[in-house]
Amino acid sequence: MMNIKTIVIAGSGTMGSGIAQVCAQSNFQTILFDLNEESIAKAKLMIEKNLSKAVEIGKLSEENKLKTIANLTYTSEIKDLIGDLILEAIPENLKIKQDFFRSITEQNKPNSIFATNTSSIPISQIAAGLVNPDRVIGIHFFNPAHIMKLVEIIEGEETDPEITKTVVEWVNTIGKSGVKAKDAPGFIVNRVARHFYVESLKILEEQVTDLKTIDNLLESSGFKMGPYKLMDLIGVDTNYSVTQSMFELFNYEARFRPNRIQKQKVIAGKHGKKTNKGFYDYD
Ligand SMILES: NC(=O)c1ccc[n+]([C@@H]2O[C@H](COP(=O)([O-])OP(=O)(O)OC[C@H]3O[C@@H](n4cnc5c(N)ncnc54)[C@H](O)[C@@H]3O)[C@@H](O)[C@H]2O)c1
Repeated sequence: MMNIKTIVIAGSGTMGSGIAQVCAQSNFQTILFDLNEESIAKAKLMIEKNLSKAVEIGKLSEENKLKTIANLTYTSEIKDLIGDLILEAIPENLKIKQDFFRSITEQNKPNSIFATNTSSIPISQIAAGLVNPDRVIGIHFFNPAHIMKLVEIIEGEETDPEITKTVVEWVNTIGKSGVKAKDAPGFIVNRVARHFYVESLKILEEQVTDLKTIDNLLESSGFKMGPYKLMDLIGVDTNYSVTQSMFELFNYEARFRPNRIQKQKVIAGKHGKKTNKGFYDYD
């Protein structure tokens, strides 16, 4: 078992900020990195807001809030990214992810763990382009990461079983429930959930009804969030990239086909809550 003390989270967007909060709250020294200073500032604000809310509702003591804040550092400098566990939550794009890992491999210890929060890119494919494929593993959190308990843990072809052991234990330490999944397209949850989005978009495209009605009906039938609210929460762009990636990985099976209504939102920059506009408008 490796000893994890310092964690680097790359990408301070929707997922990275929540994951960093969870790590810092569990007493790990946490470095949150993003190339975009604005995204870092937004993440810092969001984390502190989440922590204050947790104190307000009695889930966290003021002392632990301050400890958590002290455990966090923020940076936009690659040279600062040295840790026992490096977990990336940057855009869903193979090249961006591989380039990131390549840029930090040399400055890290040979036994650091290189983890990806990818929703759909095969772990073996990310690992294949790197010098240390045995150190690469998938640790897939769910949104919002500071609340959702489930974490999928995915080994690539080359992942060292010792790394998996360490990661399984670490996931427990941060209070999450880890479930191992095979390196299959979309792993478990995204594979099942894909049709929730794809079919809802088809209903809209065929003008069966409007999107608010689709959300309302699904919510009243027991889903916590309708598909349009959920796509806005996830990020319409991220959700679209995941569908595209799964469509390719499933050999262009029609049931995974990305929808042009969603593509149009992405092109228009309406990426959901993070841009204040998506399928809905936000303040
Ligand atoms: N959004 C979700 O619900 C969700 C859930 C589980 C997993 N994921 C996965 O997590 C990853 C991140 O998704 P997200 O929704 O948080 O994305 P996001 O768009 O909200 O955030 C991505 C962040 O990465 C930054 N970035 C871009 N290129 C970078 C680079 N080279 N180095 C450092 N930072 C860079 C951007 O500035 C941005 O702040 C993706 O792989 C996605 O599939 C997303």
